[in-house]
Amino acid sequence: MPQDETVPLKRPKERHDHAILKFPEGFLWGTATSAHQVEGNNINNDWWEWEQTHQPPHLQSQAACDQYNRYDQDFELAKELNHNAHRLSIEWSRIEPKEGKFDAAEIEHYRKVLKALKDRGITVMLTLWHFTLPKWVADKGGWENGKTPEYFERFVKRIVPEISDYVDLWVTLNEPGVYIYETYIEKIWPHSKKSLLGQIKTFLNLTSAHKRVYKYLHSIFPAGKPVGIANNILSFESYHKHSIVEQIAVCLNDMFANHLFYLFTRGTHDFLGINYYFHVRFKSQGLVAKREDTPKQTHDISDLGWEIYPEGIFEVLTDLSDHIPIYITECGIASTNDDRRNRFLISYLQEISRAIKSGVNVRGFFYWSLIDNFEWHLGFEPRFGLIEVDYTNLERRIRPSALVYTDIIQNNGIPHSLLRFIGHTVQAEEVLEKRQKEIGKEIDKKRIAKTGS
Ligand code: FCB
Repeated sequence: MPQDETVPLKRPKERHDHAILKFPEGFLWGTATSAHQVEGNNINNDWWEWEQTHQPPHLQSQAACDQYNRYDQDFELAKELNHNAHRLSIEWSRIEPKEGKFDAAEIEHYRKVLKALKDRGITVMLTLWHFTLPKWVADKGGWENGKTPEYFERFVKRIVPEISDYVDLWVTLNEPGVYIYETYIEKIWPHSKKSLLGQIKTFLNLTSAHKRVYKYLHSIFPAGKPVGIANNILSFESYHKHSIVEQIAVCLNDMFANHLFYLFTRGTHDFLGINYYFHVRFKSQGLVAKREDTPKQTHDISDLGWEIYPEGIFEVLTDLSDHIPIYITECGIASTNDDRRNRFLISYLQEISRAIKSGVNVRGFFYWSLIDNFEWHLGFEPRFGLIEVDYTNLERRIRPSALVYTDIIQNNGIPHSLLRFIGHTVQAEEVLEKRQKEIGKEIDKKRIAKTGS
């Protein structure tokens, strides 16, 4: 074609992903906590005892967030923020402080706590064991003792009939793998020691405890109330895709850390509860593959140095996808930088939405955590809360990221106004600020209507 007849190419139209990222109908949106981390004064458990002897005062749980007394206020905030679900745990050592002696007042307390959630129309996911043991159980060897699954089952059989009206989903155990890792490998938690045998016994006793309780819960609720565990699932990756050494490391670690408990408890899960926090990359050094240090990686990190890697949640979801439903039972960031938490929420939920689109049956998301709380051996410094706790007076303050989460909940999806903050468009508008003000005003209005001031 002669030069002068060239038709100039039209400027292409800009493309933007304007559609809202919708989540499935009936999706559960909530947060997660655990008793010892928020209640305060759990004086009858092994963690409390260990804190007194092994930790300086600022790393002891003490009054924690005093949620034992302030649960109503906290649940009211969750309600105001539009959460439709909440995951929490009950403290075995309060209910059975001495072997076989159950405390009626504490049972009544938990009835009230759970009722307070149900009265607000919040779906309740209840964890029956979240890391702490009554002292008397620990004194008998804790989870290394072959009798502990029986003790646990006895406790469950005593408490469940009292509270079952207020519970919708049961989590038997929280993160058995993390418990074993911190106790026997890192050796930084109560009862820490080097013992392969102790490790194996603990693993097997935890699987047995889960199976017993699963069977019992199914015998009393044949028609519903799903049962599962909350498992810490890591995203493993190789540095070089072609390195067989790295691929083997990925495969073995995935098998041991992510799948082993499920393999040993096959057929006793109505859902998979996934706690997602970590991404690990293996790099070969000769014939071995080593974990790459997080700071060497290119992603941002949280205040705890944990890599922010949203793609990882897509990877673990697809790795574990089969036909049973999945709940993200924990996922959160320790950060005093709330902009970072906003970005975290939007980008992780975007990856979850991608997983759902690719066929993974995800039914709910529980951000860790509703309020700042006691982060085990690390004390109170890590700030995971959508709501800040001022530890000088225990006052609660809603963080802006809580309102971003509310925006997502109200839309049952991520609106474009939020997606643009992680780069879905390049135009900068004050949309987020406007929306936050609107939600803030709605909440204030409600409060004024209730309190008159
Ligand atoms: C998980 C625990 C939870 C909390 C978060 C940050 O591994 O289940 O209690 O400590 O980490």
